[in-house]
Order: sequence, then structure tokens, then C-alpha cells
Amino acid sequence: MIPVITIDGPSGAGKGTIAQMLAIELNWNILDSGALYRTLAYFMKENSISLENFKDNQDFLKARFKVSFDPGTPGEPVRVIFEKQDITHIVRTEEMAKITSNLAAEPLIREFIKPCQREFVTAPGLIADGRDMGTVIFHDAKHKIFLTASAKERAKRRQTQLKRQGLKVNMRTLLKELEERDKKDIEREHSPLAPADDSVIIDTTNLNPKGVVKKIKTYL
Ligand code: C5P
Repeated sequence: MIPVITIDGPSGAGKGTIAQMLAIELNWNILDSGALYRTLAYFMKENSISLENFKDNQDFLKARFKVSFDPGTPGEPVRVIFEKQDITHIVRTEEMAKITSNLAAEPLIREFIKPCQREFVTAPGLIADGRDMGTVIFHDAKHKIFLTASAKERAKRRQTQLKRQGLKVNMRTLLKELEERDKKDIEREHSPLAPADDSVIIDTTNLNPKGVVKKIKTYL
């Protein structure tokens, strides 16, 4: 069986960075499921597809919605490739995050994306980053990590990330929006954000990425 390591947790807990570091080190594939949802949100917007006409466009979406990820370089976000274009910076904005968080609460959308996520399981292994990787999508994965950190620390990390992309953001607004999205992810009916019973929970508030990877390796 192809091994899968799931990394779940709220926004800014460090999932992307850690998934990237592990994928590069192990030379495994990477699935950034948040970016997958973001890309679907972007593609729907581009093609004027909404929840109302989603079913009528399902065949079109199935044929065209092919996303791939490149772990890229440490320190930079995992790269999102769609229709032969690098759309990383298009989908990784706070505006897209907000739209995505609303869409991702919809069972129709989650069901559509489910098989797309499972297609990423290819040899030699997969690092899957998201909210429900360990609880729903890869519930039989042997290794499950749940990363968490204080809201303040997570907002600070997000701010650094956005600044690096040349985007200006207000810390207070960022924190408020991050908490709102977390609340929505935790309280939603379908695939809410929660650690799997058999996951290892790591609080990354006072750890640097190398420290987190070290902890994970000890566990592995
Ligand atoms: O991780 P990222 O911030 O890119 O995720 C964007 C949004 O997608 C999250 O706020 C969450 O609502 C949703 N998401 C999800 N399930 C996943 C990954 C992301 O609902 N597995």
C-alpha cells in the first residue's frame, strides 16, 4: 500500500511549510487540499459557475479540473499549477480564502473534490495537507499529524506570508478573518476541522519549522 502522511490543522498552523519540507526530504508527492479548494473556487468564478448551476456544469468541471502541485522551494508557498499555468499567487489571497471557506462548507463541493484528492496517492508516497485529510479523505492513513498554534501566532505567520507576496494586510483584520474562517471550519456540519482520534497533535506556537519536522520524525 502506498503510504500517506496526513497533516491537518487550522490556517497558519504551519501545515504548508511542514508538508513542503517533508515532501522535499522524502521525495514524496504533495497534496495541498486547501489550494485544491481555492483553485476550484477560482475556476468556478472564471466560468460563472455557482452552487445553483454546479450540477449542470459537473461534466465540464470534471473534464477540466486537473490541478497539480510542485513543492517548490523552502520558504516559498507550494506551487499550484492549473491549465499549465502557475496560479499560486492568484489563489493564495485573503479574498480567495474567504470565498473558498464558504464554498468548502457545501457537501456538493466536498463530494466533487473527494475523488480528485484521492488521485494524488501515487508511489512512493503522499503528504496530504488540509482540514479533513486524517478524519475523512485518508482515514486509513498510518501517520496522522494535527498541527495547531495560537490564533495570534497563526495570523502573524499569515501576515509574513502575504507580505512576501507583496500584499499589505492589517494584522487586526487578518486575525479577525482567520478566527472567523476557523470557526466556520470547526462548526460546519460536513467534514469539520478536528484532529483524528489516532493523530499526533503538535502545538507549533513556539517551534520553528525544523523543530516541528524533528518532532514528526521522532513520531514516524
Ligand atoms: O488551507 P487553506 O487556507 O488554503 O484552505 C482554504 C479553505 O479551504 C479553508 O479555510 C477551509 O475552509 C477549506 N478547506 C477545507 N478542507 C480542506 C482544506 C481546505 O474545507 N481539506
